[in-house]
Amino acid sequence: MSERLEDIAAAIVGGGKGLLAADESSGTIKKRFDVIGVESTADNRRDYREMMFRSKEAMTKYISGVILYDETIRQKAADGTPLVDIIKAAGAIPGIKVDAGAKALAGFAGDTITEGLDGLRERLADYYKLGARFAKWRAVIDIDSTKGVPSATSIGSNAHALARYAALCQEAGIVPIVEPEVLMDGAHDIDTCYAVSKATLLKLYDELYAARVVLEGTVLKPNMVISGKKSGKTDSPEQVAEKTIKLFRETVPVAVPGIAFLSGGQDDEEATANLNAINVIGPHPWKLTFSYGRALQAAAQKAWSGKASNLAAGQAAFTHRAHMNHLAALGKWKPALEQAA
Ligand code: 13P
Repeated sequence: MSERLEDIAAAIVGGGKGLLAADESSGTIKKRFDVIGVESTADNRRDYREMMFRSKEAMTKYISGVILYDETIRQKAADGTPLVDIIKAAGAIPGIKVDAGAKALAGFAGDTITEGLDGLRERLADYYKLGARFAKWRAVIDIDSTKGVPSATSIGSNAHALARYAALCQEAGIVPIVEPEVLMDGAHDIDTCYAVSKATLLKLYDELYAARVVLEGTVLKPNMVISGKKSGKTDSPEQVAEKTIKLFRETVPVAVPGIAFLSGGQDDEEATANLNAINVIGPHPWKLTFSYGRALQAAAQKAWSGKASNLAAGQAAFTHRAHMNHLAALGKWKPALEQAA
């Protein structure tokens, strides 16, 4: 595997493959385990993630890389093999979440700023030694027009932090996944999502340029353009695709090799149908694929439910979703393929 940033970025988004975001912090994975009645111990977290990483068909054919959490990149499988080695043996690339989470932005109620820049150079060097060849940093932009959220200060501060992170990653030989997530939790309509996402991406690419980040060695991880959950509106995949591509054509330079979406709270099938619709209206100047957390894992978590006897069922559920999203990344998914499973 080439160590060039451009080659790693191209491998992450190419061939209809996408990323498995398995980098839930200890707090977030506990919430997911609570739903299926599993205690969040280090061993249970290891067993669950090992189940996915050992899903041979999914990991060799549909998944280009895995975003890990600090605990997981250091963890060994039950038989003593480092989890990183299991991922590499399947031909996938290990990655690492390096931000320290979104914290309240002083002076701007309702806005957040993602922390984690201090000491990042040293942490990246450590993660490189542990096998990471790409990283993730998530900025969180909420929408609440009743409170003037997001402020221009929040968008600017988060874009600046993303650019500093991306430059440090490239210095360390690590591809930065640049994630400015405009949340879909609010009551806003699809056009407000478009407008806020546009302001965010324009600022982001300004800052990346100013920080001398080489765009060919980056991957963008954005939200789709979609109505807020509390708006009561459901957009068709065609509407989401049209507005999402319009947004990118106006903001994302063609030097960026690929765009790997977050699922952000979309249902499993919705996230697949929307990605498929986006690719159906191509060709586009970038690869458009998935970097899903919830939309790749929810079914697998339910099928597994913490029982060793459910391992095969958990792997089958994970493999099915990875397969469906692989087809969507190629614009070849059809609803009937879901029923066939
Ligand atoms: P979701 O797909 O669940 O939004 O998670 C992706 C991710 O990595 C968010 O940072």
